[in-house]
Amino acid sequence: MSKRVVSGIKPSGELTIGNYLGAMKGWAANQHKDGYENFFFIANLHAITVKQDPELLRKRTMDIVAWLLTSGVDPNRSVIFIQSMIPAHSEICWILNNYVTMGELGKMTQFKDKSQKTGREGQIAGLFDYPVLMAGDVLLYDADEIPVGVDQVQHVELARTIAQRFNNSHGETFKIPKATLTENSSRIMSLNEPEKKMSKSESQDSYVAMDDKPEAIIKKFKRAVTDSDNTIKKATDKPAISNLLAIYSGFTDRSIEEIEKEYEGAGYGKFKNDLGEIVAGVLDSWQKRFSEIREDNDRIQNVISEGNSKAETLAKEKLGIVKDKLGLH
Ligand code: TYM
Repeated sequence: MSKRVVSGIKPSGELTIGNYLGAMKGWAANQHKDGYENFFFIANLHAITVKQDPELLRKRTMDIVAWLLTSGVDPNRSVIFIQSMIPAHSEICWILNNYVTMGELGKMTQFKDKSQKTGREGQIAGLFDYPVLMAGDVLLYDADEIPVGVDQVQHVELARTIAQRFNNSHGETFKIPKATLTENSSRIMSLNEPEKKMSKSESQDSYVAMDDKPEAIIKKFKRAVTDSDNTIKKATDKPAISNLLAIYSGFTDRSIEEIEKEYEGAGYGKFKNDLGEIVAGVLDSWQKRFSEIREDNDRIQNVISEGNSKAETLAKEKLGIVKDKLGLH
């Protein structure tokens, strides 16, 4: 039996190289392994947990489809679909809400972090419920593997708990999925605060966006903070250089050891300069490819309608089974 891989990405702002190295790159690579069926979707229902401009949300949703195609996700090998266009996602979320406690949801790190400003009581319920929608996203498709960055692992763990609980009450219904991480780059850190995750919601200097221009990329890497000594070596007490090495390795497909060897005796200045040039070179060529793909609206619409129709068939079937078990049919 083939294994199923399911993962999603939110269209809520610029894509960063963290999204690429932590998730999309692995998605594209996985398509070339035998025995896998791949499902990748744009999590636009998750995006509305933050206020969105409707036109911009629509545009960004299409942008991400085009970025997936640019980064090598191939619609002949993967199903690409839009979460909100498959109503089963919202429906299963409501059902699964009855298999999770307020205590479990309140422990989610992302919810706690995002509620720091507003306080728990002032936070919208959608953000609290976010992991349940995510659980539905993967359980609907009998996913085996969920390739994500480290920040999403806790949510996948909760999806496992929800699935197990449902199965215990109603008999075997859902597969128990597991999170899979990309080697070295499952947690790309901020360029100016390497103890924090690289994120588009932080300052512009702290992340590289997939559509940053070459000069900006080179400048950002030049300014990236470094650790106290001047050796290019990965180490737990050297978070800044370890992060830059991970990015270097991710963009060149060379091992960290090999890169360390090449830069033995060289200083941070040369290393950061080379890294900037490498990332700028790759992203510059991708941006050109992205523009061509993005212009071909018919192709994007075709990819989406084919993907939606394949995803919907499976999602409807699983939702039907669930509703049957609960006496909702
Ligand atoms: P999102 O849109 O925040 O991020 C998409 C993917 O990129 C990874 N990522 C990173 N990986 C490494 N280093 C970073 N700095 C970094 N920043 C982001 C994320 O871990 C993620 O894998 N809730 C999800 C979307 C989602 C989903 C799902 C994922 C909705 N339903 C079901 C998997 C399965 C999210 O907000 O990802």
